[in-house]
Amino acid sequence: MQKPQSFPRRKFLKHVAATTLALGVGPLSSLAGNEELETQVLQYNRKFSSNDMVNIAVIGMGIMGNHNAVSSLQVPGVKLIAACDLYSGRRERAKELYGKDIFVTNDYRKILQRKEVDAVVIATSDQWHARITKDALKAGKHVYCEKPMVHYIGEGLDVIKTQKETGKVLQIGSQYVSNIVFQKAHELYKSGAIGNLNMVNAVYDRQDALGAWEYTMPTDASPKTVDWDRYIEGMKKIPYDPKKFFWWRNYREFGTGVAGDLFVHLLSGTHVITDSIGPEKIYASGQLCYWKDGRNVPDLMAGIMQYPERPQHSPFQLTLQVNFVSGTGGSETTRFVGNEGTIDIRGNSLTVHHSKLPEAPGIGGWDALETYPEEMQKELLKRYNEKYSKEQQKRHNEPDMTYRAPEGFDSSLQHHINFFDSIRNGKPVVEDGVFGFRAAAPALACNQSYFKNKIIHWDAEQMKLKEA
Ligand SMILES: NC(=O)c1ccc[n+]([C@@H]2O[C@H](COP(=O)([O-])OP(=O)(O)OC[C@H]3O[C@@H](n4cnc5c(N)ncnc54)[C@H](O)[C@@H]3O)[C@@H](O)[C@H]2O)c1
Repeated sequence: MQKPQSFPRRKFLKHVAATTLALGVGPLSSLAGNEELETQVLQYNRKFSSNDMVNIAVIGMGIMGNHNAVSSLQVPGVKLIAACDLYSGRRERAKELYGKDIFVTNDYRKILQRKEVDAVVIATSDQWHARITKDALKAGKHVYCEKPMVHYIGEGLDVIKTQKETGKVLQIGSQYVSNIVFQKAHELYKSGAIGNLNMVNAVYDRQDALGAWEYTMPTDASPKTVDWDRYIEGMKKIPYDPKKFFWWRNYREFGTGVAGDLFVHLLSGTHVITDSIGPEKIYASGQLCYWKDGRNVPDLMAGIMQYPERPQHSPFQLTLQVNFVSGTGGSETTRFVGNEGTIDIRGNSLTVHHSKLPEAPGIGGWDALETYPEEMQKELLKRYNEKYSKEQQKRHNEPDMTYRAPEGFDSSLQHHINFFDSIRNGKPVVEDGVFGFRAAAPALACNQSYFKNKIIHWDAEQMKLKEA
């Protein structure tokens, strides 16, 4: 156990500044999100005893591994003591960034053998998630594993079982779950702001090479600097290919395509807001439009999922879209449509729009009324006005309402705070294996649907694929 680190209070406060809220009237103007954030400020400004210290290691020191390391290190009392990566340049960079004394290796098992490591963050390519998670839990480590929780649906239940057997903390890394805007949308939806939900439209579009996963390659990429054999361990022999290592998302053998990579976030967000456990029917269609760089996954995909009626929600349809060559320039939006309004989530804000059906059915305008003889029209109007009062003929809408996350709010930091809280206090994580798998499996089912050209049936309760 090492001494507690002092934590820059102002830096933390920057992330949990007061909530900006521009609300209409009525019960929706709750400040619960704000209170939650303030509670966290208090909690993380308390003094840390040596028992609170958590030593972590990151396995997979690429883009997200470093991002997770930075988020973890913002939580007081967390120390990064080891890092693992298969490319030597990233091990070197880990020492540059986190200190020359940290232990680095290309073999994650060596990390798991170290007693002083309390928790590991797994941010490797997708094909390794389930395997390293299970090994780490069995070695007595708490695990933060990046989304998607698994590479294949068949791996999910085993991960959940291993977590239960070991009793260690497992948080899956879709930080949407900790996004205060999604939590606010959940609160609004539950309070009846849009009536009965019947449709969700979620879009994640991009229009750039980096967004389409063609990341900058290092100058020294070669079998000497990349531990290729370890990378493909357990798979059939595949010759070294730098693209399959540094652009792994583009290959099904290592990644999970746009569905596993991005639909999973949209599903996590939808499940947070609706408390849903998942769809029962899944279909996806797609194409490779533009990024023809050797990839074997589509760069444009549309998914449709049917959510049956459940105690938590009315039946609804979810449409998902990712387009990597979108003339919109890129956008990330999720719209929840109910029979009385919509919640639109865009970046770090949401807008609630109300539109209620009037009691009266309406008459005139784009109607058959004017096609009838003059006298009959007068009679019909007279009867209509006798039957329905002015009030019954009006739409009773509330004004639109916008909610914005606090300036600098960081959902990734919140997600990590929740992970370390759970390790320290036994508080449940917000995204356990069950939640993570229930978001990952329908996303991965989209790949099955696309590649096999069929509708996939999913038993969300039992978390198993079903025959049609
Ligand atoms: N939560 C999010 O918003 C978010 C964002 C980006 C990425 N991710 C997830 O994070 C993970 C990593 O993505 P990335 O963009 O950082 O990829 P990356 O290519 O930048 O980094 C992956 C690293 O994993 C290493 N690696 C692969 N297999 C390994 C093994 N067996 N042992 C040790 N290291 C291994 C590679 O050497 C590589 O450096 C993916 O699962 C991805 O889906 C999540």
